[in-house]
Amino acid sequence: MEALRTKLQKRNATAAVIGLGYVGLPLALEIASAGFNVVGIDLDQNKIDKLKEGQSYIGDVSDKAITDALRTGRFTPTLDFSALHDIDTVSICVPTPLSKSRDPDISFILAATEKIRKYLHAGQLIVLESTTYPGTTDELILPELESSGLRVGRDFFLAFSPERIDPGNSAFNTRNTPKIVGGITQTCTEIARIFYSQFIERVISVSSTKCAEMVKLLENTFRSVNIGMVNELALMCDVLGVDVYEVIDAAATKPFGFIPFYPGPGLGGHCIPIDPHYLAWKLKALNFQARFIGLAAEINGMMPSVVTTMVGEGLNRFSKSIRGSKVLILGVAYKKNVSDCRESPALDVMRMLSEKGAVLSYNDPFVSTLRMNGNTLKSVELTSVNIESQDCIIILTDHNAYDFRRIIAASKLVVDTRNATKDLHEFRDKIIKLGAGNNVAPAPNHEDEHDSITANQATTEADVVHFHDPRSHLT
Ligand SMILES: NC(=O)c1ccc[n+]([C@@H]2O[C@H](COP(=O)([O-])OP(=O)(O)OC[C@H]3O[C@@H](n4cnc5c(N)ncnc54)[C@H](O)[C@@H]3O)[C@@H](O)[C@H]2O)c1
Repeated sequence: MEALRTKLQKRNATAAVIGLGYVGLPLALEIASAGFNVVGIDLDQNKIDKLKEGQSYIGDVSDKAITDALRTGRFTPTLDFSALHDIDTVSICVPTPLSKSRDPDISFILAATEKIRKYLHAGQLIVLESTTYPGTTDELILPELESSGLRVGRDFFLAFSPERIDPGNSAFNTRNTPKIVGGITQTCTEIARIFYSQFIERVISVSSTKCAEMVKLLENTFRSVNIGMVNELALMCDVLGVDVYEVIDAAATKPFGFIPFYPGPGLGGHCIPIDPHYLAWKLKALNFQARFIGLAAEINGMMPSVVTTMVGEGLNRFSKSIRGSKVLILGVAYKKNVSDCRESPALDVMRMLSEKGAVLSYNDPFVSTLRMNGNTLKSVELTSVNIESQDCIIILTDHNAYDFRRIIAASKLVVDTRNATKDLHEFRDKIIKLGAGNNVAPAPNHEDEHDSITANQATTEADVVHFHDPRSHLT
């Protein structure tokens, strides 16, 4: 342990990062910039080729950051795991998606662990950074590594340290976002803390890997539940005829006890829609039902169909149906100013509208092409002629690059799911805004409910296919 501690403190230890995606690439460059020699390992030949040529494929990482790291000789991208032979620290940053049955898919972690085991040697620190369910590090990785005959805490060190990177966030990056570490033994925690302290401003130790795993799931479940709550609040405000954004902004003036969250077309990205399911899955196996997680997933999951309904309602004003109408989507990335489309609610909205016969196109300054139903769509230009020809424009991602005044001035009907049009009062009549009290008909009263035939006859095409009526929570 002493030898590794000294190497880490002198920064002449060698590091490896396995998985060079949104998390692993910035991490590898940060470790290299602290003076360590870093080997970046990925299975994706295309990514390794790009890195070797000094090209970035991640929005927050510049080409210059890569060429600088390559020039110092401190960053070596490779496909070859045998580099682990001479490595002192290994950070695992591989994906943790959900399987088709929405269960955790930890196959990437297992595959990486198998490779590490092959080259495991005394004096090595292994840290899992991928988000996963509590127990992954000590129940799966530890036995695999100890099957080498080496003992944790004595021969090698094993810890979990959740990655908290927020793509597109210009204020917080790998270096200035506090890092949590929890080791299998106290020595493991201490070694991991020393490692991260070399290139991260603040490192917080917790008592176990399970606690560190749970910290990350708390953070992301917190976001999922609060977004679910505020999405439901937006639907309530629609029924009540109150602008949810005015309510939230006024509530946010309270200097304590309130954190504003904002509604939207649904959850996206590789974290918030997925991570809480890891926790719920683990708890289910222990006969515990994670009810908040389930409810938040249900409400957030119905938002794309709420947006589809809004489009149907809007077109109805012009005596048009979704079928055959020209609909332009603004923003397909899951959040503003990034190119990441993983789990983006835009994909669900587009699928639903396409199934209903809409003539769809999209624009996204960060996403030039998009695969949908086996077809490749290209981002269209936002010329005045193109905007004017659309029956409806949907704002799904409010990228800073959009000139909403110009776009809305030229359009006939706008569905705004991001409050992007909040200052454009002069166009109010053509804007349908999520949570603004103007996109759905009033909630039926109890007498209406008895008259089911009349209610059904009055329902629009979009309402018929609603998975969940947003108003059902209130009646
Ligand atoms: N993207 C985020 O904002 C974010 C934030 C915090 C935590 N996380 C978590 O970090 C982990 C990684 O996420 P990401 O967004 O960087 O994923 P990513 O898909 O962008 O990158 C993962 C990389 O790992 C590579 N890979 C897969 N299996 C491999 C293997 N066996 N060996 C070597 N390389 C392999 C892939 O080719 C890919 O380049 C996930 O668990 C995620 O939940 C992501």
